[in-house]
Amino acid sequence: MTTTSDGVRAKAREAIRNQPYKTHTILSSLLAVQDALGFLPPEGLDEVARHRNTTVNEVWGIASFYPNFRFTAPAKHVVEVCWGPTCHVMGAQPILRGLLQRLGLHAEGDTPDGAVTLKMNTCLGVCAHAPAMSFDHRLAGHMSPQKALAGLEKLRSGDQPAHAGHDGARTASGGAR
Ligand code: FES
Repeated sequence: MTTTSDGVRAKAREAIRNQPYKTHTILSSLLAVQDALGFLPPEGLDEVARHRNTTVNEVWGIASFYPNFRFTAPAKHVVEVCWGPTCHVMGAQPILRGLLQRLGLHAEGDTPDGAVTLKMNTCLGVCAHAPAMSFDHRLAGHMSPQKALAGLEKLRSGDQPAHAGHDGARTASGGAR
């Protein structure tokens, strides 16, 4: 993992430059940086400001408006539960309840040991496979509370991306869409 300030800047610049769209906005650039780094460090905000030829204050104003951006490094593993309408109807609620209980959390966030970040996503883009989740950005579909807990434990024990119920077959990228 890149840890030096110069390395972080280089990675942020590369993410901004390699956006798949012709039109780069502040928001699209912030999303690109968060996808690449997992969060928005000060260097990332500064690189977005440079790229868009604006001030860090303006970039910060936009970034801080969206709750899905984070400004501190995520935990070692990131587990996302889709909370979109389809997944909600298909059983996201008991999945989330089970994960919160297992992780000792009351809401999305980081476990105190820094092992797992639990996030709620508005739509992971695989509604046909609802209820969906992602484990370290690998999608898993047709989840159940049991599969969710099994995937979590697999992730924690083996440091490997989980495949619990995996049939969504793509990688997920961040949640701020
Ligand atoms: S609503 Fe869950 S993947 Fe779309």
